[in-house]
Amino acid sequence: MNRNRSVSGDPYPNEYIEEIVLRDGTPLTLRPIRPEDAPLLQEAFTHLSPQTIYMRFLEIFKHLSDEQARFFANVDYHSKMALVGEIQEDGKERLVAVARYAMVGPQESGVAEAAIVVRDDFQNRGLGTIAMSRLLKYAQEHGVKEFLGTIHVSNARIMHFIRRGGYPFTKTMIEPGVWEIRVHLDEKPEQV
Ligand SMILES: CC(C)(COP(=O)(O)OP(=O)(O)OC[C@H]1O[C@@H](n2cnc3c(N)ncnc32)[C@H](O)[C@@H]1OP(=O)(O)O)[C@@H](O)C(=O)NCCC(=O)NCCS
Repeated sequence: MNRNRSVSGDPYPNEYIEEIVLRDGTPLTLRPIRPEDAPLLQEAFTHLSPQTIYMRFLEIFKHLSDEQARFFANVDYHSKMALVGEIQEDGKERLVAVARYAMVGPQESGVAEAAIVVRDDFQNRGLGTIAMSRLLKYAQEHGVKEFLGTIHVSNARIMHFIRRGGYPFTKTMIEPGVWEIRVHLDEKPEQV
């Protein structure tokens, strides 16, 4: 497989590969996902706490199947995109964050479902903020006008995150304990 082409043949967006340093000095690469990241996603999943898995997927499962990992690792870099945070650990590449969006489809033009997860031992170190800001910018450059998220009502951290982003949003209870959040990326963010 040519590492510079996606599965659909779209060119891999090399220009979005970025070397970053977390505020505690940890170096990390933020880059678009690749199909060959599937096993790394499965490995990363084994480091997530049940709480983190639940907040991300709103269900608990113990491992990411081969099929799920393939699904998550294959994007077209336009209607579906994912950025991963990669570190070197024990001489191996490891993924510690994934921020993704997927356009909902023609029935809701410009709307994309978005989600993010950061490995527990990397949380509260500023990584989620950086990954989400880069994903948001990429999304805006690719025609996304609204991020749609399903959030557990107890997820104070992601709500803090959304408020701090400054974009206007609406919140609807779609089932007991679950908010649907719509963040309007085409409106001017407030200074927060
Ligand atoms: C939500 C998540 C992605 C944030 O990533 P992160 O790398 O920890 O985020 P950051 O370190 O950049 O920022 C965390 C912010 O939350 C704040 N925070 C931490 N715990 C909090 C809490 N219980 N309530 C409110 N805010 C909280 C921190 O103070 C920080 O804000 P600040 O920078 O303004 O001080 C991460 O916690 C995660 O993976 N959670 C599980 C999955 C999830 O909930 N995904 C969202 C739904 S798809």
